[in-house]
Amino acid sequence: MTRESDDALLRRTLKRALAELVGRYREVLGEAGFDALKADLVEFAAQRPAAAASSSSTASSSPPPKAIDPDRDDVDSIIAHFPRIIGRSPKMLDVFRLLLKIAPTNATVLIHGESGTGKELIARALHDLSPRRTGPYVAENCAAFPETLLESELFGHAKGAFTGADRTRKGRFQMAHKGTLFLDEVGDMSVALQKKLLRALQEGEVRPVGSSVSIKVDVRFISASNKDLAALIKKGLFREDLYFRLAPIKVELPPLRDRAGDLFLLLERLIAEAAQRCGRARAPDITPETLEALRRYRWPGNVRELQNEVQRVIALTDPGRPIEPRDLSPEIQAAAR
Ligand SMILES: Nc1ncnc2c1ncn2[C@@H]1O[C@H](COP(=O)(O)OP(=O)(O)OP(=O)(O)O)[C@@H](O)[C@H]1O
Ligand SMILES: [Mg+2]
Repeated sequence: MTRESDDALLRRTLKRALAELVGRYREVLGEAGFDALKADLVEFAAQRPAAAASSSSTASSSPPPKAIDPDRDDVDSIIAHFPRIIGRSPKMLDVFRLLLKIAPTNATVLIHGESGTGKELIARALHDLSPRRTGPYVAENCAAFPETLLESELFGHAKGAFTGADRTRKGRFQMAHKGTLFLDEVGDMSVALQKKLLRALQEGEVRPVGSSVSIKVDVRFISASNKDLAALIKKGLFREDLYFRLAPIKVELPPLRDRAGDLFLLLERLIAEAAQRCGRARAPDITPETLEALRRYRWPGNVRELQNEVQRVIALTDPGRPIEPRDLSPEIQAAAR
């Protein structure tokens, strides 16, 4: 028998087994069985050797948690769990070690860090490394909505709850059932809504706007803020009891200027990506003076600001010549003087 027909036979046999499996799932779990099978297949497929899993940085989810002792494992195997997050500085390695410890738990986590430090990436990594990774990941930005709208975004609403509510709508809590809910900019939430959030977290249930019925939800809750919540508590703008609910575990993301060496790793990746997007065959070189100017700058907007700077420079610099200090934004040039 040829190799090809061997493969064809094997495939036919496996396909028959799969068809049988689909039938069994449907039989036992009804129509939801097909979705359950898909989720289980994704879970099993993710259980491949760590080296193969970590080689794909564009995969939609991070590699699954493998047995790792974050206090002992070497740097490369720690970093391999975070394919979308660039960083090897001691401060980022401390963050990664903490994430590996808390990801498998259901603990509520508060991520704090300046704007652009990667809080959303961290929240996503926590989900991808958790046992909930095959469940939904739902993210919401509290600063993006006025108070009344945010309430119905989070908790849902009943039909007729307000003008325009022509049908019942699920909120983010319900959408995240059996998965992870990430609330960004939680410091921007009104005090009245904070009270409702606290109740939802304490009781594990939500009451949609205009409804008298509470709904049980099973979510892992992650929030983030670039504000100093302790200072907001002192000003009466943030509830202390909610703070303690949100922050049994706090992940403090260091600003880019404190991540020794990470700037250059990020630069390398961002320049290659930006050059590719501009259709350039090759990423440009950077002169040592330019690197020094970038190193001296304080990056108040952190990685997001660096991303923007790289995109600007690549778009404006003629291909074929290295990037020089004169190509940088005036404020970065000024910092180098
Ligand atoms: N360590 C990193 N490696 C690669 N990309 C990063 C890293 N940190 C941040 N980024 C990228 O920088 C941008 C900003 O990150 P993100 O939105 O997670 O920041 P943030 O802390 O949530 O900011 P904000 O407080 O303004 O909401 C995103 O495009 C993100 O992909
Ligand atoms: Mg954010």
